[in-house]
Amino acid sequence: MVKTIAFHSYKGGTGKTTIAANLSTLLVSKGYNVLLVDMDVYAPSLHVYFNFKPEKWMNNYLLDDLEFTDVIYDFTDIVNDFYTSTLSENKIGLFSIVFSNPKKEEITSLDFQNRDSSKSQMLKKMLYLREKTAPDVIYDYIILDTSPGIRPWSINALAIADVIILSLKMDHIDIEGTKQMADDVYKSFINFGAKSYLLLNRIAGYCTPSDLNKGLISKPGRFEFTLLEQSETMIELENYLKMDVVSTIPCYCDIQFERQEFVTVLKYPNHPFVGKMNELVNKINLNS
Ligand SMILES: Nc1ncnc2c1ncn2[C@@H]1O[C@H](COP(=O)(O)OP(=O)(O)OP(=O)(O)O)[C@@H](O)[C@H]1O
Ligand SMILES: [Mg+2]
Repeated sequence: MVKTIAFHSYKGGTGKTTIAANLSTLLVSKGYNVLLVDMDVYAPSLHVYFNFKPEKWMNNYLLDDLEFTDVIYDFTDIVNDFYTSTLSENKIGLFSIVFSNPKKEEITSLDFQNRDSSKSQMLKKMLYLREKTAPDVIYDYIILDTSPGIRPWSINALAIADVIILSLKMDHIDIEGTKQMADDVYKSFINFGAKSYLLLNRIAGYCTPSDLNKGLISKPGRFEFTLLEQSETMIELENYLKMDVVSTIPCYCDIQFERQEFVTVLKYPNHPFVGKMNELVNKINLNS
């Protein structure tokens, strides 16, 4: 049966799109059929990761201009080409992606539609998406990238998710905001049977100052202290929210400072970030 995974967070910039794009690509490379949907309709960015200029968008489906099957793009080949070139014997899955339109007028139209439609109509759109994706394809995973915070389309995305992954950075605003969202939003979905996990992204540990071991920085030992603080905060958060941490991903400066977003799994398959994504795939499959 298809498993729907939604990425959400309190604040922006916690890695939802990066992880959704990479996780989906990796799942396809392992033979799963994946539908990846940009539900961040308020500030879409998925098309940038795939360096693609779509002509049909999620917006056309949400605004009733087109059928859902008409806005799906087939990206199987980018994974296929990559694995053919690396002479892998892997059986590749099918990769379908639906993008959201970043144009201001499109985003505004959706907001108008929100005001005109009843909540149940909006939810129906999402349920239909899960039930009737494509008549001839059986997806193993539907991955939903969402907008941060409490926004109507994000909440609708969470409503159809079997698994909610809440990404956050280890800073005070993210931690307190996630606690608040747990009380306000996530609890009701969990009560209805969704599983939810924390994903700590951009933690310390990778970009260790190179001078640290040479004793050239003013406070040697401060960095190790940060790592200890992080694990204490993590345990405290797990206990408070009663959610497990499904993954901890360091902040990789080399990914952070690249000029354009990209799918690391395809561009740098040996990068430690890809190891983290592989761990995440295993955990998701284990907990399925
Ligand atoms: N582990 C990481 N290490 C380094 N850079 C990262 C990491 N995770 C994400 N980034 C970078 O951080 C930026 C924000 O990530 P991303 O766009 O995925 O966040 P988001 O949660 O989708 O943001 P928004 O809520 O605005 O949609 C991007 O430039 C991305 O490349
Ligand atoms: Mg995003």
